[in-house]
Amino acid sequence: MALLEVNSLNKSFGGLQAVNNASLTVEEGRTHAIIGPNGAGKSTFLNLVIGNLEADSGTVTFLGSSLLGLRPHEVNQKGVVRVFQSPQIYPEMTLLENTTISALAKRDGTFVMNFFQHPRRRKECVATAEQALDSVNLLHLAEEEAINLSYGDKRRLELAICLSQKPKLLLLDEPTAGMSQQETQSTIDLLKKLSKDEDMTQVIIEHDMHVVFSLAEHLTVLHQGTVISDGTPEQVKNDPKVIEAYLGGVEEL
Ligand SMILES: Nc1ncnc2c1ncn2[C@@H]1O[C@H](COP(=O)(O)OP(=O)(O)OP(=O)(O)O)[C@@H](O)[C@H]1O
Ligand SMILES: [Mg+2]
Repeated sequence: MALLEVNSLNKSFGGLQAVNNASLTVEEGRTHAIIGPNGAGKSTFLNLVIGNLEADSGTVTFLGSSLLGLRPHEVNQKGVVRVFQSPQIYPEMTLLENTTISALAKRDGTFVMNFFQHPRRRKECVATAEQALDSVNLLHLAEEEAINLSYGDKRRLELAICLSQKPKLLLLDEPTAGMSQQETQSTIDLLKKLSKDEDMTQVIIEHDMHVVFSLAEHLTVLHQGTVISDGTPEQVKNDPKVIEAYLGGVEEL
């Protein structure tokens, strides 16, 4: 079943057509990568989907209803969660407090009042928050202050903050950027685990082809705002248009 369907999406910045008539379908349960050279329009595309930017034209449908015109927090509440942009770590708070706040915010919007008024709800949210920490292997640091985490662990906490909102669709923009090889590998393993154990649908924008080909079951290639290829990793890897787009830049596939 299609979870997310984007049709003929357009966005220009002045004279620059950053996203040009782009369409794609994300099937439920799949890990779908969007790749393309620098400036191809990948981040803009994601920002259009989550309501950070307003599309000039096109449609974005999630579980059968339109996302266009919704504010980012409304898109969020429908279960579309973007990692590494919206999540905010409160450095002086513990890991568990960080993820609990996120779980409460998703549930109630105005979380602070409910946090004190409804102990049962609070309990549920704490359980969700603990589960999120556990799935990124940070539960043993639940009572630690976030400020004390290593770079890689901070990124895992950001992911846990997103997971505590129980996303139906997880969007990741360059999740391994700036990570060491070891941190990259553990992120790959983690995303694989989420896909397998929790059947979570993921859209990943990524430059690191090792990450892309380790995770993606389906690929869409953007070049100058246009979808130039779409298919399985094997199909895309052997598509002459893709090879040309990458050779045109200096990047290697
Ligand atoms: N807010 C903006 N205002 C003007 N131009 C923009 C804006 N955001 C992006 N652009 C331009 O739109 C084009 C697409 O940018 P985008 O960031 O979507 O590319 P990208 O594929 O994510 O690139 P990268 O791989 O480098 O992250 C680029 O030419 C960029 O300079
Ligand atoms: Mg980008």
